[in-house]
Amino acid sequence: MISIRREKTTDPAAIRRVLDGAFGRSLESAAVDGLRRRAAVVLSLVALRAETIIGHVMFSEARLDAQAAPAWLEDESAKPKAAAPTGAARPVTRPIRPAGRNEPDTQWLSLEEEFAREQREREMAEVAEAAAAAARAAARKSLLESTTRLRTITAGVTTAPKWVAIGPIGVLPNQQHHGIGTMLVESGLDHLARVSCEAVFALGTPGFFGLMGFVPTRRFGIAWELPVGAEKFQVRELKPQALAEVKGVIRLEPELRTLTKA
Ligand SMILES: CC(C)(COP(=O)(O)OP(=O)(O)OC[C@H]1O[C@@H](n2cnc3c(N)ncnc32)[C@H](O)[C@@H]1OP(=O)(O)O)[C@@H](O)C(=O)NCCC(=O)NCCS
Repeated sequence: MISIRREKTTDPAAIRRVLDGAFGRSLESAAVDGLRRRAAVVLSLVALRAETIIGHVMFSEARLDAQAAPAWLEDESAKPKAAAPTGAARPVTRPIRPAGRNEPDTQWLSLEEEFAREQREREMAEVAEAAAAAARAAARKSLLESTTRLRTITAGVTTAPKWVAIGPIGVLPNQQHHGIGTMLVESGLDHLARVSCEAVFALGTPGFFGLMGFVPTRRFGIAWELPVGAEKFQVRELKPQALAEVKGVIRLEPELRTLTKA
């Protein structure tokens, strides 16, 4: 059974262990210690399995500078790929089978047939991967639903800044891919939405945050103050249209500036 609760005063050492394990370095745990020391924490949650802390997420204020002009780095992975060579350019048959080999002729496919077979295998692998991902998503969803009642533990935080940033977030390596990171984020967002926060920014893996409805801030004409790939700085509106009229540059707490390589 996984539970989520707010950080207690006795938790910092365990949180440090989790973050150092998750990131394989201590930059993130140092940032968390720094935010805590300066009382710059909006919300800090831990995930526990059988009373042991296995995950952590921190939320702090994000300040919008509406006068500053956003700048983005182009994301290499987002660029359109060069067109694949067309079928016409490929030779249509495979060279002759080597002398002395006795395999049945059916093993010797033309390149066209081989290409079609590889294509089928790729498609089958994609279908299998999609089914596995759907099963994992269903497991995450049921985990989230079963712990919904635990979200009330964040009661006690009665206000939040209008804009908030997530980070860092870490789950112990041997506990990853079980929905714990999602639970930590969703629990935090769930609570922040109830205490006047309008949007939450995140710097990190689109593959993770994108699943929870985060989208690149560029869509809203908003950038982080430091240059990162355009897809990496993301946001989720907690209040509908919160960012409709907003443009500019987001400044995060100084401790988070050290994590640009994350
Ligand atoms: C990122 C992290 C917090 C996610 O925690 P988690 O408990 O593994 O997350 P979930 O199980 O809820 O993941 C949900 C989905 O997000 C995606 N996801 C998770 N981690 C990902 C990653 N590192 N890269 C790309 N996608 C990722 C996957 O699609 C995953 O679904 P799957 O398990 O079916 O593949 C955890 O992997 C971690 O601590 N990583 C190292 C530290 C780090 O990089 N933190 C910052 C990331 S922005």
